[in-house]
Amino acid sequence: MPPTGRLAVFPGSFDPLTNGHVDIILRSAHLFERIVVAVLVNAEKKPLFSADERVGMIREVFREYPNVEVDTFDGLLVEYARHRRASAIVRGLRAVSDFEYEFQMALMNRHLEPTLETVFMMPAEQYTYLSSRLIKEVFQLGGAVSGLVPPVVERRLKEKAVVGSR
Ligand code: PNS
Repeated sequence: MPPTGRLAVFPGSFDPLTNGHVDIILRSAHLFERIVVAVLVNAEKKPLFSADERVGMIREVFREYPNVEVDTFDGLLVEYARHRRASAIVRGLRAVSDFEYEFQMALMNRHLEPTLETVFMMPAEQYTYLSSRLIKEVFQLGGAVSGLVPPVVERRLKEKAVVGSR
C-alpha cells in the first residue's frame, strides 16, 4: 500500500525523553499531519525505564496534542514505518558529531526502503548538548536536570532513585 503522505515516525530509545526530543516532536507536529513517536523496545540495551514507562511519560507530555501518537516498535524501523504507511522518518541532529551515525542510518534505511525519506531537524540551540545518556549520568551523580527534561520525567527519575536506594 502507498504511504499516506503526511505521517512521520520519530523513532528512538527515549530512555528517557529529554526537552531536546520534545522540541523535535513539536517541530514535526507542525510539519506533518501526524507524528508517531516510536519507542524502541530493545531488551539487549538494559534501559533505565521499561518501554511501558517510557511510553507513559511521553503520552503524558503530549496528551493535549491530538496529532502526536506514541507507540512501540521492535525489529527493523523500515518495517514498522511500512506497516504504519509513513512517508518519513524524523531524526534530530544536534551537532556534527551526530552526522556520521545518522548519515549511515539514513542511507541504510533508504537502501532497505527507497520510498521512505529521512528528515533531519535541528533542535533549539539550548538543547544541542542534551542526550538521554548524559541526563541519566548527571542525575545518578546528583546533578540537577530540571529544565532539561519534562517535569514528569524528572519526577519519575526521582522515584527510581528512591526505589533504587531501598
Ligand atoms: O535514540 P536512538 O538510540 O538514537 O535511536 C536509534 C534507533 C532506534 C532509531 C535505531 O537504533 C533503530 O532504528 N533501530 C531499529 C533497528 C533497525 O532498523 N536498525 C537498522 C537501522 S539502519
